[in-house]
Amino acid sequence: MTRNEQVPRKITFITGNQHKVKEAQGIFNHFQIEVEHVDLGYPEVQGDLDEVALFGSRYAAKRLDKPVIVEDAGLFIRELGWFPGTYSSYVQSTLKNKGILKLMEDVRDRYAEFRSVVGFATPNTEPEIFLGVVEGHIAREERGNYGFAYDPIFIPNGYDKTFGELKREIKNRFSHRRRSLEKFALWFEDYRGD
Ligand code: IMP
Repeated sequence: MTRNEQVPRKITFITGNQHKVKEAQGIFNHFQIEVEHVDLGYPEVQGDLDEVALFGSRYAAKRLDKPVIVEDAGLFIRELGWFPGTYSSYVQSTLKNKGILKLMEDVRDRYAEFRSVVGFATPNTEPEIFLGVVEGHIAREERGNYGFAYDPIFIPNGYDKTFGELKREIKNRFSHRRRSLEKFALWFEDYRGD
């Protein structure tokens, strides 16, 4: 079989976030990968995105006894010393977007990036990780009802709209998650199992 005769493949995506599931389905459609969603909580080790993805994928693959992917993301704002970064989840549920906007009130350099790391592991092999980044800046106010969490305050480069104002299909063309999942999908095409 040649590489172009693409065989539909399936991957188990471990997440508790329905938005991420929908985004992943839209992205994996382009690569003939079917997503099986499992909401298996895994311990989020204190560390950077790579460490969370490595630990989470290793843990979930062993628990379910099959290959899995997990994904860990965060918003990194340069002028705030790359805060909230690995604290993105905590900050989203405490300070929320309003708190971030307040911190950014008098800040001129509004550069920010979303980073996403996908971890793939099997029960018998060491995990692989795939990084995706999208650059942009922090808006002056929340805008838009699409997406989730930080989407209404993040304006990707080349756009004057926030992710919250862009339909999922558009966000999925170039988001941090598109980039990490696409890297994984291209690698996975040639993956022949352990
Ligand atoms: P997680 O640990 O990967 O689930 O994400 C950390 C925090 O960033 C959570 O509050 C998420 O809701 C938020 N987050 C992750 N990805 C995105 C995104 O694509 N847009 C907006 N917020 C996100």
